[in-house]
Amino acid sequence: MQTLDDMEDSARLGVGPDLLTDPGWVVPPVPEDVPEGTMAWLRARVARFSSGGAHARRRALAAEALGSLGALGVLGGPDANAEALRDAARIRARELLSVPGTVEVMTRVARVVPAEVLATSLGLRVTADTAALVGDVAGAYHAHGETVPAADRALTRLVADCGGTWDEATAARIGLLVQAYDATAGLIGNAAYLALTGPAPDPSPGPPADYVADPTTDSAPAPAPDAAADLLARTLRTDPPVRGTLRATVDGGDPVRVSLVTPDGSLAFGAGAHACPGHAHARALAAGVLDALLARGCRLVRPGVAYEPSVNLRVPAALEVTCA
Ligand code: HEM
Repeated sequence: MQTLDDMEDSARLGVGPDLLTDPGWVVPPVPEDVPEGTMAWLRARVARFSSGGAHARRRALAAEALGSLGALGVLGGPDANAEALRDAARIRARELLSVPGTVEVMTRVARVVPAEVLATSLGLRVTADTAALVGDVAGAYHAHGETVPAADRALTRLVADCGGTWDEATAARIGLLVQAYDATAGLIGNAAYLALTGPAPDPSPGPPADYVADPTTDSAPAPAPDAAADLLARTLRTDPPVRGTLRATVDGGDPVRVSLVTPDGSLAFGAGAHACPGHAHARALAAGVLDALLARGCRLVRPGVAYEPSVNLRVPAALEVTCA
């Protein structure tokens, strides 16, 4: 749902989502001549803050590292790679939820599982510190012009876990982990909040709720609805985690904020040259975590939720649950 603030923001500035596909507007540029070992180096080497030929080259490196992924539970059979990512996320989330007492889902699960599973699939050396290192880097990713020594140190460790070469291919892999970090945690958190405060959904995984067996080709009974995929679709429509992004004119004008909140959720993963290349991966990872939450019959310890302070993100700060 588009909030009044989002609408007023766009209206006041006279900008709309068309600007995301307008060649006259670019992501605000970052300094390029910066030293290795710093967050400025990461910003200067990833697709996210690049334009033109450098953007195309860096985005291709990111897409190659991610690997192609089909949608979950599509008619004609689910994509095997998407299912593998979802399974890995479900198994790790189940493990993390299987502790006695209450679990704070955002810190313990939503900010850990996607980072670890994605890092494994990108071929990094994954340790108990991986998610926290990605978190330290993500926290300073948009802090342009600031020096955050802890983030520089975390970046240096992640580069080492990628093989130790400070090049664009390494930046692409770390960029993927960082882009995934807050957005996927927000997607999981907002969908979990919806599940935990709404009517109890069917916990059994399977194709989407609108799947109907074709009697001419499919003699099996219609499978159970996919509760997690359904929750994600509703969340992306009504409570998306990424609410806005910045663009500036090519001639270097001041950045303006473009709202990504629409009545149908069509901009939840952005649009144009910078549209999210990880949307299928994000859905698969989030679905796996939600599968585990739903299967464990988790319940919120107290009503209500507070959000991380951010203009462009909507990520629950904490969701404390008890599980059966
Ligand atoms: C596995 C998880 C994810 C990965 C690997 C990922 C990766 C990326 C990357 C690399 C970019 C920059 C692309 C470019 O500049 O060319 C990007 C952009 C974007 N991502 Fe994702 N992402 C993930 C999850 C999400 C989620 C959950 C959301 C929100 C629902 C999201 C929303 C966006 C948006 C809106 C942009 C465009 C930003 C802009 O145009 O300024 N991403 N993503």
